[in-house]
Amino acid sequence: MTARSKIIGTGSYLPKRILTNNELEKIVETSDEWITTRTGIKTRRIAGSGEETSEMAAEAANKALTMAGVTAQEIDMIIVGTITAEMVMPSCACLVQKEIGAENAFAFDISAACSGFLYALEIADRYIKNAPDMKILVIGAETLSARVDWQDRNTCILFGDGAGACVVTGSNDEDGLLSSQLYSDGRLWQLLSLDPAPRCYCPVVDYETIPDRKSSYDGSTFNMAGRDVFKYAVRGMGDAVEILLNKEGITVDDIDLMIPHQANIRILKSLAERVNLPFEKVYTTIQKYGNSSAASLPIALDEANREGRLQKDDLLLFSVFGGGFTWGVALWRW
Ligand code: COA
Repeated sequence: MTARSKIIGTGSYLPKRILTNNELEKIVETSDEWITTRTGIKTRRIAGSGEETSEMAAEAANKALTMAGVTAQEIDMIIVGTITAEMVMPSCACLVQKEIGAENAFAFDISAACSGFLYALEIADRYIKNAPDMKILVIGAETLSARVDWQDRNTCILFGDGAGACVVTGSNDEDGLLSSQLYSDGRLWQLLSLDPAPRCYCPVVDYETIPDRKSSYDGSTFNMAGRDVFKYAVRGMGDAVEILLNKEGITVDDIDLMIPHQANIRILKSLAERVNLPFEKVYTTIQKYGNSSAASLPIALDEANREGRLQKDDLLLFSVFGGGFTWGVALWRW
């Protein structure tokens, strides 16, 4: 049997600063009620000093390594899914390598917006199939607060910062990654974009209040056709789930837990309804952390894992959707 990719450790890092909807009411014309009913978000985390994208990624990686019982020197490869690396060059992954002391690894970033973690995991899986002994750090890390226009109420209420990581290696057991499928549709890029490209070095700044953050805003803008994104996200992930379940010859009743990208509680409810999955089986962190793009799935995975929500042999469904458009699904036997 070809080796399967197995997650042997998870970790996450959330910035200390909690930004509430009530605080946002003082920055843009919005209300806790509007944000809560339209998105499900109550608070989000905002990175500050010592919480650059690579620093949060390294913290998450160290926690995943500890859980896996693997040293940084044993890591062969580091992949970071991110659209908010501190610099264009070097990659966030190389900074993580330096930070954790994984000198035997090679390291690179991939850009697939909110789908970045699942794309990275899929790449890791291809390596594991050829070299099952490899130990790979797969990370999703973002500092969207440094790119968001804090005067644009359409977008600034949605996003948050953080990082999640996992250690992946090969296994000959029945558990691990059973199946996955990635998709992109570049024709629809204008419905969700961050342009012009953020300036190369966009550090987080020391601050106590968000209005101060306006001074660090780098001029890039989130362009988002919210309703279209909503529609394509539900349809894209919904169809992908159905295709995957059919391919694997299982039904939605076999799924123990779905761990999706955390974009909006209403997207997650519509997705669950579309594929006939009871919403109790959808793991959510959106209320606490908002949409942290590529970091949201691995943060949710780590929280579910540490809460004891994942039992051996559980069938897990990952689903993601983001700018590009990019999207995908994966089925895991835990
Ligand atoms: N507070 C108060 N009002 C706001 C607001 C805010 N933060 N943001 C927008 N509004 C207003 C709009 O200006 C609009 O006012 P108008 O009717 O006077 O023009 C009204 O609320 C309705 O806006 P609309 O965009 O139609 O709302 P919506 O129900 O589609 O909800 C989103 C907006 C963004 C929450 C929703 O479209 C969504 O979640 N889309 C997906 C976004 C996403 O997940 N992106 C990332 C994908 S990875």
